[in-house]
Amino acid sequence: MSAAQIFDLHGKVALVTGASSGLGVRFAECLAENGAAVVLVARRVERLESVKARIEKSGGRALAVEADVRDRAAMAAAFDAAERAFGTVTILVNNAGVAHATRAVEMPEDEWRRILSTNLDAVFYCAQEGARRMLAAASGGAIVNVASVLGFGVAKGVIAYATAKAGVIQMTKALALELAFKGIRVNAIAPGWIETELNRDYLATEKGQALKRDIPIGRFGEERDLDGPLLLLVADAGRFITGATIVADGGQMVALRG
Ligand SMILES: NC(=O)c1ccc[n+]([C@@H]2O[C@H](COP(=O)([O-])OP(=O)(O)OC[C@H]3O[C@@H](n4cnc5c(N)ncnc54)[C@H](OP(=O)(O)O)[C@@H]3O)[C@@H](O)[C@H]2O)c1
Repeated sequence: MSAAQIFDLHGKVALVTGASSGLGVRFAECLAENGAAVVLVARRVERLESVKARIEKSGGRALAVEADVRDRAAMAAAFDAAERAFGTVTILVNNAGVAHATRAVEMPEDEWRRILSTNLDAVFYCAQEGARRMLAAASGGAIVNVASVLGFGVAKGVIAYATAKAGVIQMTKALALELAFKGIRVNAIAPGWIETELNRDYLATEKGQALKRDIPIGRFGEERDLDGPLLLLVADAGRFITGATIVADGGQMVALRG
């Protein structure tokens, strides 16, 4: 099969959470560019509408659905809307996430809950909702969870984030194991520093710029650097891959300091 054929997503329906900014926007555009109908989910609906308009202008199909990923009823309604518009969601990209900068001993309970409920609980409940529907439709499918290199290593001030992302990597394996026999693959992408709204201000500071020294490729990532890992995991090209986490970090994780 040609490269175009094994990465082709025509006839697929994708739902991307956190599609109102950063990586989620690019994930949605990339899926649409390769043929999938894309359902865009986040809280800032006006941003989703402009992403939808851009995708449609380029000849793609998209639907914008306002929902908080922590609200299970709202997410079930988002899947319903997706089914009405395009059919069963067969590609789910669990991308919505929030960051924090709090030392462990200073972490307030509501901040811990905000991070864990968004970056871990919601990933599970969205995967569960998506998988139940794929099973009911006997459609098979692909779920991609967005983890982080902070799911493997840690830094100071990111305890809730790193704990959640490590959980996402384990959750990916557990889901993959339970769903493989029904043709549902579950994988994760663990990005290193990718410049987005989440971190742009920080990366521009002197301290932020110094982080580049730890990245062997010598630069921060760009959103489109994740196109390849995403397409591999959702398309036929990755049909024998499940339970995997692809690290895309410019070599940061393998480099020792000094
Ligand atoms: N950028 C990096 O360097 C990097 C590295 C490793 C991993 N990641 C991961 O990549 C993912 C995307 O990050 P990003 O850099 O693109 O961040 P971003 O630009 O801040 O985007 C985060 C997205 O998540 C959505 N979101 C947050 N909380 C939500 C909620 N409760 N319900 C629905 N949507 C919610 C936001 O939409 P609304 O605010 O409109 O709801 C936004 O679309 C995250 O999981 C992050 O942890 C990023």
